[in-house]
Amino acid sequence: MNTLPSNRQCRQFSDAVLAWFEQHGRKHLPWQQNPTPYRVWVSEIMLQQTQVTTVIPFFERFMLSFPGVDALAEASQDEVLNHWSGLGYYARGRNLHKAAIKIMQDNNGELPQTLEGLMELPGIGRSTAGAILSLACGQSEPILDGNVKRVLCRHYGVDGWYGQSAVEKHLWQLTSAVTPRQLTGPYNQAMMDLGATLCSRTKPGCDRCPVQSSCAGYATGNPTQWPHKKPKKNKPQRQTWMIIVQDGQGRLMMKRRPPSGIWGGLWGFTQFDTEVLAERYLDSLNLSSVARWQSFQHTFTHFHLMIHPIHVRLKHKVTASMIEDNECRWVTPGEDVGGLPAPVSRIIDQLQKPVDSSN
Ligand code: ADE
Repeated sequence: MNTLPSNRQCRQFSDAVLAWFEQHGRKHLPWQQNPTPYRVWVSEIMLQQTQVTTVIPFFERFMLSFPGVDALAEASQDEVLNHWSGLGYYARGRNLHKAAIKIMQDNNGELPQTLEGLMELPGIGRSTAGAILSLACGQSEPILDGNVKRVLCRHYGVDGWYGQSAVEKHLWQLTSAVTPRQLTGPYNQAMMDLGATLCSRTKPGCDRCPVQSSCAGYATGNPTQWPHKKPKKNKPQRQTWMIIVQDGQGRLMMKRRPPSGIWGGLWGFTQFDTEVLAERYLDSLNLSSVARWQSFQHTFTHFHLMIHPIHVRLKHKVTASMIEDNECRWVTPGEDVGGLPAPVSRIIDQLQKPVDSSN
C-alpha cells in the first residue's frame, strides 16, 4: 500500500484527468468566475459539507452582502450567521468571520498566499489552503478533500480507513505525486468533479471514467470496496437482572424508569446491575415460585445489554393500598400502561402465551 506510482504513471493519470476535465468538467460555477482568493475561500468553506447545487444561491447572496474581506470583517457575527442559516455547520460561518477579522488586523485585508499563512486562520486546513492557492493564485499545491480521497483510494487500492493518520499520510504523498506542476488548478477542480460526478460513493460510472484502465478498484470488479470504512468499535456489554413480579391475581408490578438514562420515563420491571443485588431483593419477597428465563441481548447505539429475566410469583394478592404509587403500578398483562421498552414488551408477550415455553 505504501508504494507510489512512477513519474510516468503519475503523468498518464493527470493527463487523462485533465483531458476529461476539458470536456466534462464544471467551468461555470459562480466562484469560478472572477476566482479571487476571497471568493474561492468562501466557496471552499461552504462546499466543505454541502453540495454544489445547495451552495450556489448561498454563495451569491453572501457575495452581495459581503463582497470582500473588509465587508465580512465589519459585519456582526449575527449578520454572517443569518447568511449561513440553511447551510448548517455554523462553526464554518463563525470561523470565516473570525478569520476575516484576523486578516484585516494582520494582513491589511489580503489573504495570505502561503500554505502556512492560510493554515493559521481558523477553519482552514491543508486541503482548503491548497484549493485556495491552486484555484485562485496559480500555485502548484495539491488538495485532499473527501472526493479526492475516494478517487485515490479506489484508483490505487489504498487499504485502511482514511481517517487513520498513516493512511492519510500516504494519501497526501499520493496526491502530491500525481498532482501536476502545471495546470494544478484545473487538475484539482477536475479531481473534485470526477469524485462528485463519476466516482461516486455507491454507483461509480466506471464506463465513462478517464482512468479506468489503470484503476485498481475497477480491476477487482468491486470498486466500491474502497475507500475502506471506519472500523466499527466493539460495543461494550452491560448486564441487567430484570425481576418480573406477578401477584396472586396475575398482575405485574411495573415501575416508571427515571426520566434520564436508558428508557427514560418508560415503564419497566425492577432491575439490578448485579445478580447479588437481584438475589437480595428476591430474598425480601414472599415468593411462591421463581423461574429464571433464558437471557437475551438487546442492542443500543453504544452498548449491548444482556438481560437476565427472573419471573417470580408472590404468594399473596396485592391490596389496593399497595397499588397507589405514581411510579409503581400493578397491571394486568396486555393492559395499556404507556411507553414500554421493546424487551419489556417482549417479556409481557411471552407471559401471555398459553403454554409457558419461556424456559
Ligand atoms: N467541493 C469542494 N470544492 C469544490 C469546488 N471548488 N468545486 C466543486 N466542488 C467542490
